Amino acid sequence: MNGRPLLNRRLDGLGTTIFAEMSALATTTGAINLGQGFPDTDGPEEIREAAVRALREGKGNQYPPGPGVPELRTAVADHQHRFYGLDFDPDTEVLVTAGATEAIAAAMLALLEPGDEVIAFEPFYDSYAACVAMAGAKRVPLTLRAPSFRPDLDRLRSMVNPRTRLLLLNSPHNPTGMVLTPEERTAIAELAVEHDLLVVTDEVYEHLVFDGEHVPLISLPGMRERTVSVSSSGKTFSFTGWKVGWVTGSAALVSAVRTAKQYLTYVSAGPFQYAVAEALRLPDRYFADFRTDLRAKRDLLATGLAEAGFEVHPPQGTYFITTDIAPLGENDGFAFCRALPERCGVVAVPNAVFYDHPDAGRTQVRFAFCKRPEVLKQAVARLRGE
Ligand SMILES: Cc1ncc(COP(=O)(O)O)c(C=O)c1O
Repeated sequence: MNGRPLLNRRLDGLGTTIFAEMSALATTTGAINLGQGFPDTDGPEEIREAAVRALREGKGNQYPPGPGVPELRTAVADHQHRFYGLDFDPDTEVLVTAGATEAIAAAMLALLEPGDEVIAFEPFYDSYAACVAMAGAKRVPLTLRAPSFRPDLDRLRSMVNPRTRLLLLNSPHNPTGMVLTPEERTAIAELAVEHDLLVVTDEVYEHLVFDGEHVPLISLPGMRERTVSVSSSGKTFSFTGWKVGWVTGSAALVSAVRTAKQYLTYVSAGPFQYAVAEALRLPDRYFADFRTDLRAKRDLLATGLAEAGFEVHPPQGTYFITTDIAPLGENDGFAFCRALPERCGVVAVPNAVFYDHPDAGRTQVRFAFCKRPEVLKQAVARLRGE
């Protein structure tokens, strides 16, 4: 091997094994896993049946079309119209991907050249740093600071320079739960237009906004031709293992992303695409009930964490609550999370893993509330030492 490191140097130092470590701890200690963001109940039975039906009927068992099956592309376009009044041509302006993760990777690989700068909110969802690095570009963090985690727009303006190519934005934001306000959306869109920037919006929690409203940035003036909007079925329909996501945007941008996607997975899981097409057509009541259910879970866990002595930063959206452990006399989220399963029988994640500079999130710890109420109640009881 000529003494060369095996791992590509662009990825070296980016990998975080914390999720694997914490899930392993949950298994060995029998702790309640509020670490990784996946629900502990599956999504609607009729949607699961739709996947079984597709498999049995031989729909999608062989390579589906590269851009995704027409049924799903049309359902995505109809969803964008129904919820946001946006019109996309399913043939040229919609692309099905292997989850939002592949959509983000393909967008970065397609749209960036080495040396380009990408501004993203820090703490970042963990794949962002790696995808920007794989494209040879440079990530430039705009740090969201507790307690409100609002983006500092003056700072954002000052960060834009001739090398800035793209804004990689996530709202509702994992892990902080921040949801952009109308003023913030407008300011960001104006900045993107003024500096002719591309924008990739990760909207996987679009249906999980509890306070405020999700409005896709692509719907703002001047954004249609410069935005790649990314979403996924995983969170909205509680089938995170199916990995069906999508991209919407102008034909030129979608075609660029499709070119990169073609060399990553070529196509995405066939039968699940038919099932997700049905899921996107569920009645409004499904989406409203889903949000109400998650809001109640957020409130249950937030109250319990506060009673257990954590400082709680209530999220406006997503699956997650960020807390601060300083009031508990703790000052290191990593050590706290490594000890917590043994100490209390609960698994959480240190937010430091989502920062370039771990010190920034040193005392922050993230808990997922996409679990059954009885599980959340038990976790709270354990954290309160009952
Ligand atoms: C902000 C964000 N983006 C993307 C993803 C990944 O989505 P998918 O499972 O559809 O690839 C997640 C999953 O946790 C996420 O939190």
